[in-house]
Amino acid sequence: MPEKERSSLNKTISLSQKEIERLSKNLKHLNAPTKVKEIKNTTIHQDLFSAIKFLPENFVDLLFIDPPYNLTKDFNGNAFKQMSISSYTEWLESWFSSLTKILKPTASIYVCGDWQSSTSIHTILEKYFTIRNRITWEREKGRGAKANWKNSSEDIWFATVSDEFTFNIEDVKLKRKVIAPYVDDEGKAKDWNSTDDGNFRLTHPSNIWTDLTVPFWSMAENTDHPTQKPEKLLAKIILASSNKGDFVFDPFLGSGTTSVVAKKLGRNYCGIEKDKTYACLAEKRIEMANYDNSIQGYEDGVFFERNTGLTRTKSKKNITPAQEEMFFSKS
Ligand SMILES: C[S@@+](CC[C@H](N)C(=O)[O-])C[C@H]1O[C@@H](n2cnc3c(N)ncnc32)[C@H](O)[C@@H]1O
Repeated sequence: MPEKERSSLNKTISLSQKEIERLSKNLKHLNAPTKVKEIKNTTIHQDLFSAIKFLPENFVDLLFIDPPYNLTKDFNGNAFKQMSISSYTEWLESWFSSLTKILKPTASIYVCGDWQSSTSIHTILEKYFTIRNRITWEREKGRGAKANWKNSSEDIWFATVSDEFTFNIEDVKLKRKVIAPYVDDEGKAKDWNSTDDGNFRLTHPSNIWTDLTVPFWSMAENTDHPTQKPEKLLAKIILASSNKGDFVFDPFLGSGTTSVVAKKLGRNYCGIEKDKTYACLAEKRIEMANYDNSIQGYEDGVFFERNTGLTRTKSKKNITPAQEEMFFSKS
């Protein structure tokens, strides 16, 4: 991923060669059985297939999996090729079965896919776990098709190891604008609150998510990773299905979204990524979280609807001008 010329408004996080050299020193590589404390809050730069056997057992509270979907896609020179549904199911199984040992009996598992990958994910998950739900989220981006429906949705399957699991419903409520502000006989708001920004109601989150924005160039979290997930998506999952201090694990870390959001929300984390540039990008974002722990679309414990413009603009702390220049200046 060579450095690109960008407009001054473009906030995309990029890496210089010097940063890659510095950040790659933080990366782990496993070649012997490891203890939890050795991988806690780290990024493993390795092929998942060679790392799995060295991971500790029974330490993960929340497993977030965003594997290459069953589509042909280039990940910084490593192409993933679309295959038949049965071959993709076999590919999932080839690493999924050995990953189950890292989970605590109370763990939750989320697996991402598009409609073409969903059948395989369901097949594998039901073999090992109790499936609880399938979330569908709307992507705003997407190319129109000439003779098909535009592909604008993705799925996230939610499963648990047992019937004992964490689900913090109060932490994932959605703040929605009130269209009909009903009042009771005394003129008091029925189930909504009046604020300087308008009238809002806190609602229970459903399994249809329409409040997400896929990262793009003017968002502070954006990178050049081709399939980066929004931080807000991870925030919902991490807040609902883990508690502070829990361990969140991601075997296909990409640009690091899971680790970054876990850190911002006070969880422990570890991720595996086989591409060195992406692994360094993850490390850079994890460092940046020391200075800016905001999550676009989430503020003061509530999630906002998409594009309401009501989220906080800045929560950078203890930051020197040099750090500002290093982490947040436009490339
Ligand atoms: C769908 S992306 C994950 C994106 C990530 N959730 C984010 O927000 O940036 C999948 C990632 O898995 C990595 N990957 C693919 N095969 C892998 C393997 N065998 N071991 C480790 N990483 C792998 C790819 O390089 C890619 O970055």
